[in-house]
Amino acid sequence: MSQQTLVLIKPDAVARGLVGEVLGRLERKGLRIEAMRLRTMDAALADAHYAEHVEKPFYPPLKEFMTSGPLVSLIVSGDEAITVVRALAGATDGRAAAPGTIRGDLSLSNRENLIHASDSPESAKREIGLWFED
Ligand code: CMP
Repeated sequence: MSQQTLVLIKPDAVARGLVGEVLGRLERKGLRIEAMRLRTMDAALADAHYAEHVEKPFYPPLKEFMTSGPLVSLIVSGDEAITVVRALAGATDGRAAAPGTIRGDLSLSNRENLIHASDSPESAKREIGLWFED
């Protein structure tokens, strides 16, 4: 079933010049880019996007990192896109993520892990609404 998912290419990927690398992996898989925007997350958007994490101990440094510079937000679509993009991303912690995944190949961190991808149809709908209100 075709799905839409919200992807963020995080500030570490932009700073490291890895936007093309990440986009290329999504495109080569056969996923479609439906919308794409470069912007810097502000505090309010961070709190809304990470509503389920705001009380967690790792949230303050995560917020600092995610608002530290520009990121690329995308709506990506394709067959089972939500599951497929999360599989391409790999496990949250880049040190543990499998080789062959974006994080497994390119990240050594559980915070600066290059990519965010919605984890369910409900999250995708909510996150697409937050990032692409138009
Ligand atoms: P993301 O997919 O954007 O969703 C939540 C983010 O929080 C996650 O990617 C990581 O960047 C970050 N994160 C999750 N767990 C931890 C942790 N234990 N320590 C630091 N950052 C974390």
